[in-house]
Amino acid sequence: MKAQTIDRSSVAQTISHVNLHYPLPEDGEAAAVLLETAGLVRTQEMELPSGGTFYRFTANSHALNQADNIVYLSPLPPATAQLIAAARESLGMGTANEHPAVSAYRAAHAADPEYDFHVGFLLDSLDFLEERFLALQALEAKDARFAGRLKFLVNRALPGNSEIDARMDASPVYRGVTRYTYGRNGVQAFCETDLIVDGPLGSGLVLEFDYVFPGYDDHIMAISEQTR
Ligand SMILES: [Fe+2]
Repeated sequence: MKAQTIDRSSVAQTISHVNLHYPLPEDGEAAAVLLETAGLVRTQEMELPSGGTFYRFTANSHALNQADNIVYLSPLPPATAQLIAAARESLGMGTANEHPAVSAYRAAHAADPEYDFHVGFLLDSLDFLEERFLALQALEAKDARFAGRLKFLVNRALPGNSEIDARMDASPVYRGVTRYTYGRNGVQAFCETDLIVDGPLGSGLVLEFDYVFPGYDDHIMAISEQTR
């Protein structure tokens, strides 16, 4: 390659895709409905010869075929499934002799949905974030495919801005909430699901939804002010 320096400011680099898996072939459609309810747009689906369905989604409803903002979804590959099963068995998961690292891992996850790998989506409408989050909660409450398979948690905007505080008090999602974001001028909402497999033990994935109030340089995606 020719020795040269490329001007970094002339290059655009974004996250092109994340590759997610559902645990069993029969979980595919429910996992796809979950991502659609979360606001993603399903642009392709294809039956796989090995079983299950491959899906492509985009988080960018304004440019469906663009090469970034993509979420791929397919069944857990066999070698990964076998490794997870072997790891669970070796750790005695769910038995009286469960390795103590398992309960410590579960407790850490329960306390902080951002503890491990997770996927976050930024929305520029708090109304839409609230609508989608309530729709996810309705799925869990009313559709048997999702019963017990979705868990919810939200972080309200740090207090101190009267306009934002009033918006929080009026929110069907954030009113009365006492968990707070790490930074200022934004909110987070989390949906954990075991319809998508993740982590060292093949447990659930956390989907995160973020909103930043416009007009602030110091916001939740720029500066963290607290640690838990
Ligand atoms: Fe996060």
